[in-house]
Amino acid sequence: MPTHSSLPSTLRILFLASEAAPLIKVGGLGDVAGSLPSALRMIPGNLIEGRSLDVRLVIPYHGEVARKLLDPQPVASFLVNHPNGPIPTRAFVTQVGDVPVYMIEGAPIGTEAPVYTGDNYIDGLKYAYFSLAAVELARHLNWQPDILHANDWHTALSVFTLAKQRLSRDPFFAQTRSVLSIHNLPFMGAGAERALDEFGIHPVRDSRLPEWARQFPLPLGLLAADRIVAVSPTYAQEILTPEFGCGLQDFLISRSSIISGILNGLDQESWDPTRDNALVQRFGIETLDQREENKKALLQEFDLPYDPKIPLLILISRMDQQKGIDLALESLAQAANHSWQAILLGTGDPIIESACRSLQAQFPDRVRAAIRFDTRLSRRMYAGGDILLMPSRYEPCGLAQMIGMRYGCVPLARSTGGLRDTIFDGAKDRPNNGFLFEEVKAEALTQAMLRSFDRYKDREAWHQLQVNGMTQDFSWEKSAVQYANLYFDLWENQR
Ligand code: GLC
Repeated sequence: MPTHSSLPSTLRILFLASEAAPLIKVGGLGDVAGSLPSALRMIPGNLIEGRSLDVRLVIPYHGEVARKLLDPQPVASFLVNHPNGPIPTRAFVTQVGDVPVYMIEGAPIGTEAPVYTGDNYIDGLKYAYFSLAAVELARHLNWQPDILHANDWHTALSVFTLAKQRLSRDPFFAQTRSVLSIHNLPFMGAGAERALDEFGIHPVRDSRLPEWARQFPLPLGLLAADRIVAVSPTYAQEILTPEFGCGLQDFLISRSSIISGILNGLDQESWDPTRDNALVQRFGIETLDQREENKKALLQEFDLPYDPKIPLLILISRMDQQKGIDLALESLAQAANHSWQAILLGTGDPIIESACRSLQAQFPDRVRAAIRFDTRLSRRMYAGGDILLMPSRYEPCGLAQMIGMRYGCVPLARSTGGLRDTIFDGAKDRPNNGFLFEEVKAEALTQAMLRSFDRYKDREAWHQLQVNGMTQDFSWEKSAVQYANLYFDLWENQR
């Protein structure tokens, strides 16, 4: 363990995100922002030399949040600079578990708009404003953060603004350092340029950034950040390559000494098959034989026949090009003369949704497509499925594979990003817990699928795969300790 002798006993972290469960969740970012701050606060002192982290979260006061909260307390009201005149802003606070959560209210956030409209001019106005307001909030609370930790393009401008304030020798933020986490690099905030112009944030001249990126929120944040974190070690490497770098690879290589990868954790309390009340039959490692009841019930729910010899594949995903669902559908068709059943769950791109429905039409006696968002059903599927399909083209971290493994559903995934860091298939030093394939091609997936079918026939080998997944440590504590050490290093080495 590194020693950090000059550190204060408590480090103050201001954690910014566009969404945070359970208040508001759209995707994986919401899970992370909903879990990591509390995990950081709860790190046992003995793991971080008796120090503690005072982590506070800031999110926009989205309409959906306002409708949920019973008793938000107003804590500050102030003005946020804008070339056309300052914007009146109010902040509220609520407590979620042990984490104080600040919520920013102001005209650009609105009271009815969804978290993301998909129109980056509108979202750009909202999140540029939110990023500036969150930084100002710290000043109005007179709470000097040691670290400002932003996430993805929506809050990246806070990092950029902080750097500008430091340059202008603003004493309040003189000691504050910044961390920016990348959860999904392709989403850089393209289209927000006009919104940034309106806030007086013009293209930077820094030649390290490609010209097209000089007024996109995420690249501006990446340029200004003291540390950059990708949500898995493999993704941290991948973004330095043309295949995954989205045109920023050369710029990111120039910043590689401050980039690291830290795997997300999983909320192991919420995702626990021994206590999950959505399941027909709860089970654990000792009672794994009872898991089959969930498979029977699931098949019955979908009007499919049960046969213990036939593997049930499940896919639970946002229906997005990123997720490689097209590959899964093609592979299932390629493996048509083998026995298998499949249930697909999710919503998103209408083209992918209808491709899922077509597969059901093609194989009416073995495929079901449930085109909806249904968390309880997803729990029954993780508990009843044999194989979890995750053929992502890229996957910065990924959550479903961890849930699948906790629930004894063996992942079959593309070897990329966080999937590669959590799933082991023929690794030298780790027991197998799933199946991986390399190339983004249905043929490669089909081969791995046939390997999994073969293994499925060997009950004992399969049982071992399940146990290996179920005993893996996906706790947030592990990730939180890595973040804490990163904050400590940054605090010590940058002053
Ligand atoms: C994004 C990524 C996903 C990651 C999540 C949380 O949604 O696509 O891989 O798990 O962010 O970091």
